[in-house]
Amino acid sequence: MTVLTENLTGVDILAEIARLKQERNAVILAHYYQKPEIQDLADYVGDSLELSKKAAATDAEVIAFCGVKFMADTAKILSPEKIVVLPDMDAGCSLEDSCPPEKFKAFREAHPDHIALTYINCSTEVKALSDVIVTSSSAETILQQIPASQKIIFGPDRHLGGYLNRKFGRDMLLWPGVCIVHEAFSETELLKLKAQNPGAPIAAHPECPPAIIDHADYVGSTSGILNFAKTFPGDTLIVATEPHIIHQMEKAIPGKTFIGAPGADGNCNCNICPYMALNTLEKLYVALRDLQPRIEIEEGLRLAAKKSLDRMLEMAAGTVGKGDLGGR
Ligand code: 13P
Ligand code: SF4
Repeated sequence: MTVLTENLTGVDILAEIARLKQERNAVILAHYYQKPEIQDLADYVGDSLELSKKAAATDAEVIAFCGVKFMADTAKILSPEKIVVLPDMDAGCSLEDSCPPEKFKAFREAHPDHIALTYINCSTEVKALSDVIVTSSSAETILQQIPASQKIIFGPDRHLGGYLNRKFGRDMLLWPGVCIVHEAFSETELLKLKAQNPGAPIAAHPECPPAIIDHADYVGSTSGILNFAKTFPGDTLIVATEPHIIHQMEKAIPGKTFIGAPGADGNCNCNICPYMALNTLEKLYVALRDLQPRIEIEEGLRLAAKKSLDRMLEMAAGTVGKGDLGGR
């Protein structure tokens, strides 16, 4: 975690962020799992596919990426001429950590007749070792374009890969990574919550384990879940993903009730992503002021990783906002 040592007392952080944004010609991109105060001042809030597309298309000179490192790396891979800053460079991801490039390379080499379809939640090195990247909102569209006879390895999220295998009758070999946030939901506590709210549907992210997905009425990416929240006919929704997305739901649909799915202690705090939570308004201000911490990627590595990301963007065309993975 980056600890700010300077004293920012007396600095009007919100006014300074607005001023620096203009001065630097910067765009602020934020993931749905960011704190509400960051979501509220971002130029765009979105899921990982939408934010990748924004990063590729923006004409701003600086991208302040309020998300985790693999997302800021993706922005830099797609927009190398831009300065990309991440408020806290330690904002990692358990899925990325689960998949060291040298082990992934050995896994690929052990299966030379397989292509590598890889979740975007991984390092730039792993992207460079992959054939096609997917996000949770583009995975279904992309997988359906790959012939059933083609052997595939899927990493690093075994729950997303397993969900796709079950839904489409595929037999992808799965890397054993998990998201520590979605892994923490408790089936027992979810069923208790469901009993207390009869009739409330459950919307779940495909990073959840099968025991949670099996109870879901809707399975999809963060954007897909948000779209479901806007359209489901009831008045209460149980949300099995990182709970900061509920901020967007409450803004968009003020009359309805959104309840975060619980962890094993019956309280959903364990489902807050500790990496996403490292970004703060103060660190965003310092990042815009100093243009640090800055993402830098060696050019050969960037070009190798860009191939699999470009393939994703081509194959995913038209996916954004469609509600992606659909119901169970
Ligand atoms: P999406 O934004 O693609 O739904 O991914 C969720 C996530 O875990 C990002 O780290
Ligand atoms: Fe990684 Fe999970 Fe956090 Fe997303 S929510 S950044 S997958 S640890």
